[in-house]
Amino acid sequence: MADLTLSNIVKNYGPVEVLKNIDLHVPDGEFVVFVGPSGCGKSTLLRAIAGLEDLSGGSIKIGGEDVADRAPAQRGIAMVFQTYALYPHKSVFDNMAYGLKLARRPRDQIRAEVMKVAKILELEALLDRKPAQLSGGQRQRVAIGRAIVRDPKVFLFDEPLSNLDAALRGQMRIEIADLHARLKATMVYVTHDQIEAMTMADRIVVLNAGRIEQQGAPLELYHHPANLFVAGFLGAPSMNFVPARAIGASAAGAEIEVEGIGRLTVPVDGAPAAGTALTLGLRPHDFSLERGGMDCEIDTVLVEPLGHETIVYGALRDGGPRMTIALEGGPLLRTGVKTRFRFDPADCHLFGPDGIAYRRRKQHFTPLASGASEQGANP
Ligand SMILES: Nc1ncnc2c1ncn2[C@@H]1O[C@H](COP(=O)(O)OP(=O)(O)OP(=O)(O)O)[C@@H](O)[C@H]1O
Ligand SMILES: [Mg+2]
Repeated sequence: MADLTLSNIVKNYGPVEVLKNIDLHVPDGEFVVFVGPSGCGKSTLLRAIAGLEDLSGGSIKIGGEDVADRAPAQRGIAMVFQTYALYPHKSVFDNMAYGLKLARRPRDQIRAEVMKVAKILELEALLDRKPAQLSGGQRQRVAIGRAIVRDPKVFLFDEPLSNLDAALRGQMRIEIADLHARLKATMVYVTHDQIEAMTMADRIVVLNAGRIEQQGAPLELYHHPANLFVAGFLGAPSMNFVPARAIGASAAGAEIEVEGIGRLTVPVDGAPAAGTALTLGLRPHDFSLERGGMDCEIDTVLVEPLGHETIVYGALRDGGPRMTIALEGGPLLRTGVKTRFRFDPADCHLFGPDGIAYRRRKQHFTPLASGASEQGANP
């Protein structure tokens, strides 16, 4: 296994800059997830690491060695694509063995390697079947198995689960996380799925238009997004943004005025000068119907009862910014009426005119009940 270092990666297609000065270090054994809007360069970056794209600038090191002059097969990487093109006329065994056969490994060794990986992925009973005789999830496991038998230093996954239905995705997500725990391999994983990103990643890298917007642990990014882009991109439903104006600052934080809500103090570091145009960020899940905190009146337009939670769509005062609110459980709410929701200013995010966040003071860790951590159990 090996670490991965990207230094100042640039990729142009003609005049179009697709990757702009990407710097990234992935320590040995880390699971890194790339997220970002369609067309931001995720696949291009993965393909560049694999050696399938020539770079316009910068360098890639795998295990400390510059791989610029190495062909894809010589880089010690294995890539699993969204369309897991298996050889349709070969059996599961032969699909998995193909790379080792090309490398002219002895037959006994090939058999042993394939059997070992088939056991890990629970494919032993399927080794004689052709891809057409497998379910989508089984095919995806064969594609992953084909990558594992090559014993790569780094795994690259490009949206490997996006062709699967929701239940299978959930199952494969757990299998890949488990595989990572067992192989302790360095993995780089591209996804559009928020839940995959939040749950599988040691670290999320948010890309936007060929640049890294922010990287960090999933909950760090969720609770402390560096800017409006990351704040709006991570979290579902997306964060609500409301225009605000700075009034002043005190030891308690930034005092702001928000049309449709009123005055409030947001506990953040750094004091915006009075009069500065700001953006207040409120996550849908930070609202409730209970008393306390700040009030906010919403014209409800649509109520979606999902069972475990209820999503309310509406607008802040008449014609104000659109708001989405997520409430626990299934409160009975009517549409077409004004409804009062509450939130805690400590949960708010605040962004300057440049879209950069003020550092929130609220910690996102909930301490364990006393004694629980010593016993190694959750309360
Ligand atoms: N061969 C090419 N020639 C010109 N432009 C290209 C080429 N391949 C990709 N691009 C452009 O590069 C940009 C990045 O593409 P890329 O496939 O990396 O996006 P992505 O982040 O993987 O998107 P998605 O989430 O839709 O898969 C896009 O704007 C795309 O149109
Ligand atoms: Mg892509």
